[in-house]
Amino acid sequence: MTYSVSTARSLPRSADAVGIAVATSGAVPRGVGLGRAALAAHGFDGKVGQTLVVPSASGPTVVAVGIGDARKASAADVRNAAAAFARATAKHEKVALSIVDAVSLDARSAGQAVVEGFLLASYRFHQLKTTKSVPSGTITVVSSAAKARGADAGVERGQVTADAVRLARDLANLPPAHLTARMLADRAVTVAHASGLEVEVFDKDKIKVMNLGGLLAVNKGSVEPPRMVKLTYTPTSARGKSATGHLVMVGKGVTYDSGGISLKPSDASHANMKMDMSGAAAVLAAMSTLAALGCTSKVTGFLMCTDNRPSGSAMAMGDVLTFRNGKTSEIHNTDAEGRLILADGLSLAVEAKPHAIVDIATLTGACMAALGPKIAGVIGSDQKFIDQVVGAAQRTDEPVWQLPLERSYRRFLDSNIADMKNVGGPYGGAITAALFLNEFTGDVPWAHLDIAGPMSVDGDEGWLSRGATGFGTRLLIELALRFTRPNARR
Ligand code: BES
Ligand code: MN
Ligand code: ZN
Repeated sequence: MTYSVSTARSLPRSADAVGIAVATSGAVPRGVGLGRAALAAHGFDGKVGQTLVVPSASGPTVVAVGIGDARKASAADVRNAAAAFARATAKHEKVALSIVDAVSLDARSAGQAVVEGFLLASYRFHQLKTTKSVPSGTITVVSSAAKARGADAGVERGQVTADAVRLARDLANLPPAHLTARMLADRAVTVAHASGLEVEVFDKDKIKVMNLGGLLAVNKGSVEPPRMVKLTYTPTSARGKSATGHLVMVGKGVTYDSGGISLKPSDASHANMKMDMSGAAAVLAAMSTLAALGCTSKVTGFLMCTDNRPSGSAMAMGDVLTFRNGKTSEIHNTDAEGRLILADGLSLAVEAKPHAIVDIATLTGACMAALGPKIAGVIGSDQKFIDQVVGAAQRTDEPVWQLPLERSYRRFLDSNIADMKNVGGPYGGAITAALFLNEFTGDVPWAHLDIAGPMSVDGDEGWLSRGATGFGTRLLIELALRFTRPNARR
């Protein structure tokens, strides 16, 4: 089902299914039709994530939607409650949800979270299914007149952010042959034109002229040429005046990571390597919202796009690459390719002289081993900026955990013949990968997001739907909207 979103002051009579928020304590709204004891007897006690379909002889299907402690309910709780409602009413076309007035959370945040939760939980990737048509439905977000202004603004914002996440998921779910580097760049152009971004696409010849040695090397084994995409968002308020800051986002855009000569085994994780461009997708998707959401900072994006394949022309073990910034690296594992393309992206980012750089990449299995599948790693050079990233992640409920940029581990990258090897040995792989990236960030405050774990989920959970998650998209939006210049390093 694909849903269009509307708002109303009361539950519409025409709805097939209506959701009514029920907290863990206090009075149960009359519309539910059952009292607390009866709800409890059916196993429903109002916890976030719980829903109970209350049968009735006539009228719309009534669904009790758990919201937990109404006074303490966070945006994440509201998002997850709306997600649970979406899953409970997946078969219904016209649904309405009354939740905004049930919680103490401000109406704007609540309205946004309701839409995000509902739309993201009902997401399915159906482009490659032959089933004729995807039914369309409507979701009405209900709030009282008193809350209407805030709620309706939040609903509008939620549609923008959910659309962005759906774009990121669509791109990541596309198989290798359906989304090559060229196609990803083409999509970036379309999205940029539709959302008021400047866009410049650099083809292989231009990439050679620019000395993007990492991107070229990773691409060497491929029959598909690479692409580098530069996106620029300039706030309208900044025309004439100066923007409140300049943030650069760099995304890993490996459309398929076979490992190259260091070929991956044919396991489930290899089959997911069509999603190795999730970082680039998050940057593109996040940037597509900045004009609509009135971001006051300038934001520049670099999408580093190629696939990573083995062939007679592929980058070999022992090869030494020279990157955009002149540094060299000896290849000890062609599967550590993300850092090679990010090296060039970060070099370009530094040249843009921004106030901060964030990169986002499905970079290491080691990060997934450290933090598990749900939590992204964040590592960087500037604590103030890292704190902004962590704050954004908390607000969007995209969990991140900081790992240390342990500089004494830099020696694990030491090479006999080049500035560094491209891998740092068996331990602390997420950290040594970040130390590699750190070589390309100059003096600019920098934070790196390793989203190898949360790029996908096996099954539906909360606002996450099985497959690509679009993780980081809302985080980057939030980061850009609230960006303030961190103090210069040192
Ligand atoms: N794209 C992978 C990392 C990855 C693994 C993302 C699992 C999502 C899920 C990356 O390019 C990679 O292959 N990393 C290697 C690095 C190693 C060779 C140092 C890894 O993690 O094994
Ligand atoms: Mn790899
Ligand atoms: Zn990769």
